[in-house]
Amino acid sequence: MNIHRGPCRKEHDDHMPETSISSTLERIKKKTGACILAHYYQIPEIQEAADYVGDSFALSKLASELPNKLIVFCGVDFMAESAKLLSPDKTVLLPVSSAGCPMANMAGAEDVKKLMEKYPDAAVVSYVNSTTEVKALSHICCTSSNALKVIRSLPHKRIIFIPDKNLGAYAAEKIPEKEFVLFDGYCPPHEEVMEIDVKLARDKHPEALLLVHPECRREVRDRADFTGSTAQIIKYASQSDSSSFIIGTEEGILHPLKKENPGKEFHMLTGSFICHNMKKTTINDLISSLENMQYKIEIDAFLAKAARRPLERMLQVL
Ligand code: 13P
Ligand code: SF4
Repeated sequence: MNIHRGPCRKEHDDHMPETSISSTLERIKKKTGACILAHYYQIPEIQEAADYVGDSFALSKLASELPNKLIVFCGVDFMAESAKLLSPDKTVLLPVSSAGCPMANMAGAEDVKKLMEKYPDAAVVSYVNSTTEVKALSHICCTSSNALKVIRSLPHKRIIFIPDKNLGAYAAEKIPEKEFVLFDGYCPPHEEVMEIDVKLARDKHPEALLLVHPECRREVRDRADFTGSTAQIIKYASQSDSSSFIIGTEEGILHPLKKENPGKEFHMLTGSFICHNMKKTTINDLISSLENMQYKIEIDAFLAKAARRPLERMLQVL
């Protein structure tokens, strides 16, 4: 599991001097016993303030293993919800309540029920980037780093994959022995990237390797040197003998890539590869979240019980 541990550092903020931010955070963390988790797409200041930085799989697993009773999840809602589902006795805070994932909200419980009626023999595999209601109807969850392993572990021949059609299509290419029913959801920032963007980036940086996230379209994945989750992209770039890379995922990943590989060059595949929801959380939001214990993730106990099962099944897949 790829997790980056980072001590709280002094960073700039519009409203507070850097020493004050750093000491304020340290003081509240000590007082509350909180652990701060941040996804690789968060702004660099948040990644530096976090105790752990990782991809969605590593962070949700870690949240359940940590001794801390208070977790602050700097990411988007489905990540904090997954952490709460796996750690029902902990308090999980999402610093910005409107930080959601547009792709997760594309699939509703009714859509899943209709597909289940149409294909009663199929296993429902939901990407963790889904609502709690959708998880509650699923056999098992997966993330972009373990989707292939999770699907291969199932005895079912037919797989209903929800909600990302691109990650689903990637899994279908890699696991041709199974039949896939794909929901028509997508991640807007990844879906926007086209074959022409690959051509332009390759022309500009002919020596660079192209590393992309499986949420990209097939026309982009087919032209990549490597496809993997955020953690897998970082691992690949760090272990590669190459020194130049074109990055096909959200630009927040540049921070850990450059930090781990000071001698290597990273170029974004497009100039605007940004998830605006991931960029909503500022240092002020993080401090305010800890000071005011906001925004607590609360999930109805009956729903939580059903949604926890597919997440736990995912964690059992080795
Ligand atoms: P990871 O599974 O790589 O963390 O990606 C999560 C995500 O939201 C990608 O858009
Ligand atoms: Fe959702 Fe895409 Fe943002 Fe990830 S990058 S949180 S999938 S909108």
